[in-house]
Amino acid sequence: MKIALSCDHGGFELKEAIRAHLEEIGVEYHDFGTYAADEARDYPYAALYACNAIVAGECDRGVLVCGTGIGISMAANKVKGIRAACCSDYFSAKYTRLHNDANALCLGGRVLGPGLAIELVDVFLKTEFEGGRHARRVGQIMDIQDGKITE
Ligand code: RB5
Repeated sequence: MKIALSCDHGGFELKEAIRAHLEEIGVEYHDFGTYAADEARDYPYAALYACNAIVAGECDRGVLVCGTGIGISMAANKVKGIRAACCSDYFSAKYTRLHNDANALCLGGRVLGPGLAIELVDVFLKTEFEGGRHARRVGQIMDIQDGKITE
């Protein structure tokens, strides 16, 4: 599995902690930046760079970090094919894989400490989609995205 890692300036420190963790556990990743604490980047672009790689099939899942995790998730969810979830707790990070087949986990660098954030990343990466009735609902999300369901 290859992870698309990306952040804005509000998420840099946490992204670096997650990057070090992925190195440690031997999970492949592409780091889309930012690459320095004083490098500013607007979070919609941080979302777009990683999400384009996921949609293109170059990466399997994304871990996206901004200050709150919210802005970057809003931007990510505008990219066709992306189901991004902003999570601050273990249960949500697990169930957004089981039930929503989320392909991007969004975290708040000013919200979470690295210890909890890494737990969320780990459960997000190891949990597989449950399918079944949840596949129908995920299909409905994608149908709304594609304008096939309008009312
Ligand atoms: C950047 O200062 C901050 O607005 C951004 O990281 C994020 O929190 C937006 O949702």
